[in-house]
Amino acid sequence: MIGTDLHEARKYLLQNDVVAIPTETVYGLAGNALNTSAIVKIFHIKNRPFFDPLIVHISSADQVRTLATHIPEAALRLAAQFWPGALTLLLPRAALVPDLVTSGLPHVAVRMPNHLLTLALLQALDFPLAAPSANPFGYVSPTTARHVEQQLGHKIPYILDGGPCRIGVESTIVGFDDSERPVIHRLGGIAIERIEAIAGAVILQPIHSNRPQTAGQLDSHYAPAVMLQIGDLAELIARHKGKKMGILSFEMPYQEVNTYNIVLSKSGSTDEAAANLFAALRLLDDYKPDIILAEWVPNKGLGRAVNDRLRRASAKRG
Ligand code: TXA
Ligand code: MG
Repeated sequence: MIGTDLHEARKYLLQNDVVAIPTETVYGLAGNALNTSAIVKIFHIKNRPFFDPLIVHISSADQVRTLATHIPEAALRLAAQFWPGALTLLLPRAALVPDLVTSGLPHVAVRMPNHLLTLALLQALDFPLAAPSANPFGYVSPTTARHVEQQLGHKIPYILDGGPCRIGVESTIVGFDDSERPVIHRLGGIAIERIEAIAGAVILQPIHSNRPQTAGQLDSHYAPAVMLQIGDLAELIARHKGKKMGILSFEMPYQEVNTYNIVLSKSGSTDEAAANLFAALRLLDDYKPDIILAEWVPNKGLGRAVNDRLRRASAKRG
């Protein structure tokens, strides 16, 4: 059921059931982060492998001290600047955090989401919420309550509807190396340029890794069901002439017969492109083309996260 009733959502969470919650990035599938039976339900509902750890959501910066044993100076500055917001910090985990949440890894991922409904919900609970994106494992993340309902509606008792997600791509995940320099583990809703302005030069985790630490770094992820190719659209369209094509362009439309074209941002804004990306991929998938053709967006600001998701959406599965 979809609704806006916080009490209803809270009731299920207190029973260690799982509900969908809105955030400014994407919808999450939330359960009591300190209760293993709630956590197991999250993994089952998503069909997610247990080696892929979950982000723990909090409603006040102080709560992080109960979850982590040490907070680097740069992490404090980033949290002060960007929380609540699309920033997830990887911090040495405290014993309180169940193994299942971190997949046995030494760090816990923590974030304070910037959404009034979800902050109010967290404040009404005396435990933090573990929440991966509310999509089946590997598929595109949901940015509306309806997206969640379409895929997981039959598996969860409640979807808290907070409207469409403002940012539209998942949080930026920042860890720290031995010298406590910031390391970007996933490009996301806070642009690298903004992280660097607060915490200095960042280290980018190599993106083409065949041994990812976690599934969020897997090459094939965030993927629509239909095959997706990225490149120069005019060339790709010519190459696939005669096929039923779905086209995802940045700012200009491509008028072709037998195609469905979505433009991510008519004004050429990478923020707007990020906000529209996942809904666009879902619409293109629903059109059931033979192939989806896309082009890169400018590689700056949130454009980097958009390009990262496009690259993974195009990765071969098998
Ligand atoms: O914006 C977001 O981050 C959304 C909303 C719901 O908060 N959540 C989200 O969660 O994207 P999820 O589960 O779809 O992606 C979380 C990723 C994992 O796949 C993994 O790459 C990384 O976060 N992660 C989580 N815990 C980690 C840990 N302990 N160590 C390393 N990476 C971790
Ligand atoms: Mg996800």
